[in-house]
Amino acid sequence: MLQLRDVSAGYGRTPVLHGIDLEVGDAQLVALLGRNGVGKTTLLRTVSGEISCTSGEILVAGRAVTRLKAHERARAGVAYVPQGRQIFSELTVLDNLRVAGYAARKPGWQELVEEMLEQFPILREKRDQAGSSLSGGQQQILALARALVTAPDLLLLDEPSEGIQPSIVQQIAAEIKDINKRRGITVVIVEQNLEFAASVADTAYVMDKGRIVSNLKTDHLLSDVSLQHELLGV
Ligand SMILES: Nc1ncnc2c1ncn2[C@@H]1O[C@H](COP(=O)(O)OP(=O)(O)OP(=O)(O)O)[C@@H](O)[C@H]1O
Ligand SMILES: [Mg+2]
Repeated sequence: MLQLRDVSAGYGRTPVLHGIDLEVGDAQLVALLGRNGVGKTTLLRTVSGEISCTSGEILVAGRAVTRLKAHERARAGVAYVPQGRQIFSELTVLDNLRVAGYAARKPGWQELVEEMLEQFPILREKRDQAGSSLSGGQQQILALARALVTAPDLLLLDEPSEGIQPSIVQQIAAEIKDINKRRGITVVIVEQNLEFAASVADTAYVMDKGRIVSNLKTDHLLSDVSLQHELLGV
């Protein structure tokens, strides 16, 4: 579903990603881990099209998207939930969903908006309230639903557990697994929280200084403290 071939990217003249090779199969769910500032967010932004590659090739479902703009990649099936979620705080919950669906213009998006209100009762309950009135966990649910109304094939999540009360974190993990299993959507999830990442994904890629340095099972990493120290600096 997703292939990166020797992808480099950065900000202005500052390179951040150095020759990333990555392959995520159809309906797979993988975690992308690594200490602060190694380029995890930059990698997701490069796949979503917010940042252009300086070299290399990105393929989604076998199609080269390297030269497509972010909105074109969204129509090609890439949904990106950024770090901090960035929902529209002044719009109502329902309008947050409608704006996303309208922008992507996938056939049947209105039905998908209805489906989200069915699937996530909290969104139905708060449909006419401003996005800003939701808790962190509720905003993350809205951000997931907003991605789903674009009918994506590939979902990129940047630190979905960040700023969420512990009581809701497990629900978020369950929703992400459900999105992957039931809808068959390929998911790449960036996380600082190893327990959360391991509860969602079996496999992880680890980044360091703009490179992928390891590909391993999350439970292996969870049970090996010295490996965590080496790879994640924790
Ligand atoms: N908009 C930007 N302009 C210039 N440099 C940036 C920008 N965003 C990030 N960087 C730099 O790029 C590098 C990688 O940052 P990135 O945000 O991708 O890391 P990260 O792995 O997501 O970190 P974190 O775990 O803190 O979210 C860092 O050195 C950072 O300072
Ligand atoms: Mg980041």
